[in-house]
Amino acid sequence: IVLKQDESLPEPVKIKIGRKDIELGEGDKKGTRVKVMGRIHRLRAQKQATFITLVDGHGQLQCVLIAGDLTKTYDALTFAQGTSLALYGKMRKVPAGQKAPDDRELHVDYYEVLGASPSDEDAITSRVSAQQNQWDAQMLDNRHLVLRGENASSLMKIRAATEGAFQQVYKDLQLTKVSPPALVQTQVEGGATLFSAPYYDEMAYLTQSSQLYLETVIPSLGDVYCIEKSFRAEKSLTRRHLSEYTHVEAELDFIDFSDLLVHLEEVICRVIDIVLDDPTIAVYIKELNPTFQKPSRPFMRMKYTDAIDWLNAQDPPILNEEGNPHVFGDDIAEAAERKMTDIINLPIFLTHFPVEIKAFYMKKDPADLRVTESVDCLMPGVGEIVGGSMRMEGYEELLEAYKKQGIDAKDYYWYTDQRKYGTSPHGGYGLGLERFLAWIANQHTVRTTCLYPRFMGRCKP
Ligand code: 4AD
Repeated sequence: IVLKQDESLPEPVKIKIGRKDIELGEGDKKGTRVKVMGRIHRLRAQKQATFITLVDGHGQLQCVLIAGDLTKTYDALTFAQGTSLALYGKMRKVPAGQKAPDDRELHVDYYEVLGASPSDEDAITSRVSAQQNQWDAQMLDNRHLVLRGENASSLMKIRAATEGAFQQVYKDLQLTKVSPPALVQTQVEGGATLFSAPYYDEMAYLTQSSQLYLETVIPSLGDVYCIEKSFRAEKSLTRRHLSEYTHVEAELDFIDFSDLLVHLEEVICRVIDIVLDDPTIAVYIKELNPTFQKPSRPFMRMKYTDAIDWLNAQDPPILNEEGNPHVFGDDIAEAAERKMTDIINLPIFLTHFPVEIKAFYMKKDPADLRVTESVDCLMPGVGEIVGGSMRMEGYEELLEAYKKQGIDAKDYYWYTDQRKYGTSPHGGYGLGLERFLAWIANQHTVRTTCLYPRFMGRCKP
C-alpha cells in the first residue's frame, strides 16, 4: 500500500510536541490539523489501531493510527523504537477514562518516515534492556542508546537544571564566573592522580582542580567561581570516582572558617530550592527519589576527632582500612564515611582534619595546630560531595609546606605571589556535580549522572 495525503484536508499547522495551545477536537468538534515531528518511543499495535508515543526531547504525544491503509504500509509494518516521523492529523481530547500526556491524542491521517530504525535483533530494545542496570558494561557500551530512555534523559535534564541553578545562585551572591585552564603544569591534590599529557616539547597535566587559579583572581574580581572539568587518574573503581568530572569550585575573599560553612549551606539549599521550583524537574526528582527532602539548616557540624570517637563508639566499632579501630591521623576511608553518613542520615560538615592527611595549601587551625580549617560535606547515600578549606596565608609558611610535600616552589611562583602582594584570609571549596546529583536523584553510582562517564577502563563512547 502506498499512502497518499488527502488533498481536501486543511493545511496542517507545523508544531512541536510541547506546544499546548492547539484546539482539541471532541465529539463533533474538529480539532486543529497539525504536522508534528519526533521519534517513536513506544509502539503498541492493536487490532483496532496502532498507538505511538512520539517524543522529541521536550514532550510526549500519543498518536493513534486507525487500523486500515495507515497501518498496512511497509513503513508502518516496520515501525520500531527510534523511527523518526512526520505525522499529520487532528488533535483530539482523549476519550473519557483513558490517559495520555496532556490529555490529548493525535488522530493521524498521513505520515512520512524520515528515518527508519531497525526492528530486528539490532533494534534499540534488543541492545538496551530495562532489566539491566545502567552502569553494567553492556549498557555503558550502548550509553548513546541508553540516553534515549526516560530514566537517563530525565537525569540529564536534572543535571542541566542543577548546573543552571548553581550559576543562578552564584550570580545572586555576586560571585564572578571565570574559566581557568584545563592544561596545567602544577598539581593541587597530590601527584598520584595526575593525568599527564605531552604538550609540544614539554609536559603538562590535566587539571585536578581550578582552586589555585581562582585564588589568584580574588584580588581583582572578588569572590569567584567556576564550573569546569577536573581530571583524576583514580586507580580504583568505586561508585563515586570518575576520571573526568564536573567540578563546581568557588573562592571567597576576606572570610573566616565559619563564613565558609554558612556560605556552603546557603549555596546547597538555594540550588535545591531553585531546582525543585521548576515543576518539570521536580517531577523527575520525585520519580527518581520519592523521599527526597531539602536539608534543613544549619547542617550538623562534626570535628574529625569527634568522628573518630563516634566510629569507635559504634557497636560493633566501624574499623579503618587495616581492620583496626580508628586513631587520630587515619584517613576516614570511603566505606567508613559512608556507613557514618547513612547511620546519621543527615548532611554533615566534617571539619578540622589533621594536617598530615590534607593538601599542602590548607590553613592550620590557630587553636590546634595539628589540624586544618578544612571541611568535607557528607550526604546520605553518597558521602563526601564537597571538599573545602581556608587557605594558608603566610608566604614563608607556604614555602615550608611545598618543601614538606616535595613540591618545587619554582613552578608555583604565580600562586605564591598571592601571599606576597597583599595576602588575605580566604577560603573556598570544590563540589563534585556528579556526586551532588547522585545524592538528589538517588543514584547508586555517579556513573549514571554524567553523559558519557569516564573511569578506569572506560573512555568510550
Ligand atoms: O576534595 P577535593 O579533592 O578538593 C579539591 O580538589 C579542592 N582543591 C577543591 C577546592 O577547594 N576548590 O575534591 C572536591 C570534590 C570532592 O568532594 C568530590 O565531590 C569531587 O570533588 N571529586 C570527585 N568526583 C568524582 N570523581 C572523582 N574522582 C572526584 N574527586 C573529587
